[in-house]
Amino acid sequence: MFRCTGGVCLLLVLFAIVAESRNLDGDVLRLPSEFLRGGDNEDDSAGTRWAVLIAGSNGYWNYRHQADICHAYQLLRNGGLKDENIIVFMYDDIAFNEENPRPGIIINHPHGDDVYEGVPKDYTGEDVNVGNFFAVLLGNRTALTGGSGKVVDSGPNDHIFIYYSDHGGPGVLGMPTSPYLYADDLIDVLKKKYASGTYRSLVFYLEACESGSIFEGLLPEGLNIYATTASNADESSWGTYCPGEFTDPPPPEYETCLGDLYSVAWMEDSEVHNLRTESLRQQYQLVKRRTSSGNSAFGSHVMQYGDLRLSSAELFLYMGTNPANDNYTFIDENKLPSSIQTVNQRDADLLHFWHKFRKAPEGSPKKFKAQKQFLDMMSHRMHIDHSMMLIGKLLFGYEKGPEVLKTVRPAGQPLVDDWDCLKTMVRAFETHCGSLSQYGMKHMRSLANICNAGVTKEMMAGASSQACTSIPINSWSSLSKGFSA
Ligand SMILES: *[C@@H]1O[C@H](CO)[C@@H](O)[C@H](O)[C@H]1NC(C)=O
Ligand SMILES: *[C@@H]1O[C@H](CO)[C@@H](O)[C@H](O)[C@H]1NC(C)=O
Repeated sequence: MFRCTGGVCLLLVLFAIVAESRNLDGDVLRLPSEFLRGGDNEDDSAGTRWAVLIAGSNGYWNYRHQADICHAYQLLRNGGLKDENIIVFMYDDIAFNEENPRPGIIINHPHGDDVYEGVPKDYTGEDVNVGNFFAVLLGNRTALTGGSGKVVDSGPNDHIFIYYSDHGGPGVLGMPTSPYLYADDLIDVLKKKYASGTYRSLVFYLEACESGSIFEGLLPEGLNIYATTASNADESSWGTYCPGEFTDPPPPEYETCLGDLYSVAWMEDSEVHNLRTESLRQQYQLVKRRTSSGNSAFGSHVMQYGDLRLSSAELFLYMGTNPANDNYTFIDENKLPSSIQTVNQRDADLLHFWHKFRKAPEGSPKKFKAQKQFLDMMSHRMHIDHSMMLIGKLLFGYEKGPEVLKTVRPAGQPLVDDWDCLKTMVRAFETHCGSLSQYGMKHMRSLANICNAGVTKEMMAGASSQACTSIPINSWSSLSKGFSA
């Protein structure tokens, strides 16, 4: 098991305890008939199934997010969805990456088959961005920049499934491009989609750190949207099938995690059942159990949001079903095993560089490069952590600063009241201290708390410029990449 390094994730255990007491899923049992409005049949003929699949990261050390997305595509194809109704966003730098030991192949399980073959390249590279994601959801072709032009051109009886896998932070989801995706903008787009009357129901599966914060206190009921997230609003989510794991390590030639815990849990479950017989709620319960890793500190709390009544429907409505599984009716006994070891999403990149460093021959250029990547990453993390802490102390005082920064609002409340303020604070920080980057997304809560405390833009700029006298030059603080907000 890879341990947190350099004190970067000691807080996790604390978060897990806080999270435990907030983990009420508010589930209410209802009869399936309550879901069927006006007695119409929720069967095949009721509309088209659409899916939007998005991997929000790039880089070989993030192999698992694109592997998840490719796997989801295969699952939906086997379930009978058509290519014209599945829209895939992935950077597409994994299959033919020089570090990939099996060129042209991506796997999502240590003994898994290739999941890359046939995946449509709708939006790749720089076309994986917030603007295109929103345009696709809204079915607005004129708002697209690049890509295949495929959008969710749905009608009032259609069902939409969205699955997103990436890094995240409180209130934010990663993108391989800037800016990042903010919760308020996503909720606005979902409301617009609802207002356009172009779906019957929508299911959102979300894997990211602090993914609960994307919907918590933000997604209202009544939009016919049901969402589940890999973690609650203030904990990490977990990578799995990682190097060094006891039970299910990847093949030895892989120096990277192959999947994410919540993601493989729902997909491996969907893959072995007749999805006409398993409901969203049954899958939620099952995925929740597996992702909690026996309630250890190496798991997270899967959450659900929105119109929970929708979860009485069968998965078939969104994912179709593989005819080969027709005889695998869902019963409690054929659920998946839950003992699995995991790696905190935020440390999976460190783990990758560490294994690369360890395995490279002594004195080789490869070893030198891996060592440099590891050290750069560590120093970037320390720079970001220290700068944020110092800004907190400058704003709120030496004693009180750290306390204000880490305050977690009660469950049911959104992260921040004024999202424009949050984005302004992100810009102020990045102007003086450099890019937050993937790792720095964890500090969104601190920046949100700065807003919630009423700090002005000018005060924040002043504190940031005092705290950061220079921006360190390394690949992790790329000044060229643009702002995260
Ligand atoms: C589609 O996007 C374009 C460009 O951003 C915008 O001007 C237009 O209003 C959008 N159309 C709809 C129906 O939202
Ligand atoms: C399911 O079981 C029936 C009856 O045993 C059999 O005829 C059928 O071929 C099976 N279907 C599949 C997909 O295995």
